[in-house]
Amino acid sequence: MRIGVLTGGGDVPGLNAAIRAVARRAFEYGHEVFAIKDGYRGLIEGDVEPLTGESISGIIHVGGTILGASRTNPFKKEGDVERCMKNIEEFGLDAIVAIGGDDTLGVAYKFHKMGIPIVGIPKTMDNDVAETDYCIGFDTAVSIVTDALDKVHTTACSHHRVIVVEVMGRDAGWVATIGGLAGGADFIIPPEVPSSIDEVCEHVERRWEEGKRFSIIVVSEGAQIEGIPSREVEEIDEFGHKRLKKREIGPILAEEIEKRTGRTSRCVVLGHLQRGGSPTTFDRVLAMRMGVRAVDMIEEGKFGYMAALRGNEILPIELEKVAGKTRQVDLELYRVAKVFY
Ligand code: F6P
Repeated sequence: MRIGVLTGGGDVPGLNAAIRAVARRAFEYGHEVFAIKDGYRGLIEGDVEPLTGESISGIIHVGGTILGASRTNPFKKEGDVERCMKNIEEFGLDAIVAIGGDDTLGVAYKFHKMGIPIVGIPKTMDNDVAETDYCIGFDTAVSIVTDALDKVHTTACSHHRVIVVEVMGRDAGWVATIGGLAGGADFIIPPEVPSSIDEVCEHVERRWEEGKRFSIIVVSEGAQIEGIPSREVEEIDEFGHKRLKKREIGPILAEEIEKRTGRTSRCVVLGHLQRGGSPTTFDRVLAMRMGVRAVDMIEEGKFGYMAALRGNEILPIELEKVAGKTRQVDLELYRVAKVFY
């Protein structure tokens, strides 16, 4: 059997561990494995080449993806789906493993409905893929946020400042909530929870009155804060998502806090630092378990499924249940975080 593997969407640490796992399990079954370059772009353009034992060696700890990644949507441009079909046939691919977030897995589901033998593996630092408790890359990203909060804490304390830390998270606040909880944030603003600038400033002032002359505020890039001048974002990606890099909610929030409270405020935008470096132990093991399971699913002829983590088990879940959905942050976690404000 010939198995193609691709990584779509934003890169995260742990992808290489997953690719290695897919290849190693496939080799064990006696299959060949092909690298589809830069997500679905490689399938459209026929940028496909064999993966060897050598090419997947020594990559378990390396961030990024040896396959390259892109946010290419084959359903966007006329003719691209047909190009994908032609290349699948030309390269003789009997199965595809698509590793990615909701967009990549949504395309996988559409391909599955067209009869393409495909399985999915969930990865995204946002942790917002439906039907899985964890996605590859989230644990590493949130550990980076926790570490950053530990670091800004000392400066905030020494200089009696407010420090706003802007983290990624367009529609879901997993990174903000869990990172903020672990890093001892004094206020967390995920996209799912309505908040206002008055509320934030009152909290900062209350802490000052209690003798806590600093505050760490964690805000998701996609958060909506009542009373903050909104900045329209024009740039849209191929899946219709707004690119939020120019929204600058963190810097605007810091400026507004300083203006209203008179407390010196600074902002740190963690940005792509959250997607870099080596994967944590958790992400490596998750990636390896999911990679092995995905190939086992192919072996069982279980196409149209995703290898999901449920509790401590890796289970096959229908892509139909995953496509087009976003898993929002567990509000119970947010309530726990609020206990420590
Ligand atoms: O999709 C994951 C993500 O990290 C989002 O949280 C973020 O909004 C986006 O990617 C950034 O995309 P890019 O790397 O293309 O700027």
